[in-house]
Amino acid sequence: MSLLKVENLSKEFNSIKAVNGINFEVNSGDILGLLGPNGAGKSTTISMISTLIRPSSGDILYKGESIVKNPKIIQKNLGVVPQEIALYPTLSGYENLKFWGNIYGLRGRVLKERIDEISEIIGIKDRLKDKVEKYSGGMKRRINIGASILHKPEILIMDEPTVGIDPQSRNHILQTILDLNKQGMTIIYTSHYMEEVEQLCNKISIMDKGKIIACGTKEELIQIIKDNNKITLRFDDVTDTLIQNIKTIDYIKEVKVEGEDIVVLSDNANNIFKDIINKLSQLDSEILSIEVEKPNLETVFLHLTGRALRD
Ligand SMILES: Nc1ncnc2c1ncn2[C@@H]1O[C@H](COP(=O)(O)OP(=O)(O)O)[C@@H](O)[C@H]1O
Ligand SMILES: [Mg+2]
Repeated sequence: MSLLKVENLSKEFNSIKAVNGINFEVNSGDILGLLGPNGAGKSTTISMISTLIRPSSGDILYKGESIVKNPKIIQKNLGVVPQEIALYPTLSGYENLKFWGNIYGLRGRVLKERIDEISEIIGIKDRLKDKVEKYSGGMKRRINIGASILHKPEILIMDEPTVGIDPQSRNHILQTILDLNKQGMTIIYTSHYMEEVEQLCNKISIMDKGKIIACGTKEELIQIIKDNNKITLRFDDVTDTLIQNIKTIDYIKEVKVEGEDIVVLSDNANNIFKDIINKLSQLDSEILSIEVEKPNLETVFLHLTGRALRD
């Protein structure tokens, strides 16, 4: 049985369909990525899983039971890192963690030990006594993550936790997520950064305009566009003969001239490099550069929606 099952889930705000009939499953041990541009419906989706807002229709099952009917069954097993940082600026990092620990019912030595452990995990031990208002964005974010895992939740939900922070904190957070997952935590991660999701997630749902437009592993998603390999060639001299010759190469679907470049679309990238070199070595034009663009989640999104993932 899956740990979480999202069934025909929708949420409308007045006339806006923020989430529009989505389905997905999360298994124990997954790092599920919800990838999509701003406004796709990622935060609304995880707010419903976190039981912060009620769906307009559809259901979410936790171990087979509806959390819409009975939110309590999931709440203590969840850790949530919201998109907006929620901390008391005039309290220290330690005091903030203590505050959240109390909310989870942790006290005394147990809480102290847990804060100790957490501050090691989030890499903030030496700054724990400083007021949060003196922290960088990345450090605040780390405290937020620390607060969300104090009670060792089974499922950790993180909403764009690396937006607006320095690269060092970002790398630290990504590594922390992988470590927590290795220790058995199931993770739901939203982002509009394709690289992060590629790097972290064993399962990816691409969201756009309230819908899931594709899902699978990174490899499965890239299969969607395996027939659209893009090769960019640059020559000392672009002639009609040259273009005609490129068109005769096997598996080449389309040849376009874009400024100084010739852009070639092929439905088979395996031998394309060799075939192009072979063919063109018989001609007079000299190749200055050749670039084969490997498809990634960004190109998958572009292919499916006609728009770039990034705004
Ligand atoms: N509380 C709300 N009231 C009205 N509209 C909302 C509310 N929350 C989200 N929306 C709208 O729903 C859509 C999806 O938003 P959101 O789930 O925040 O997307 P994402 O997290 O992917 O950026 C957007 O059009 C947003 O403006
Ligand atoms: Mg959001």
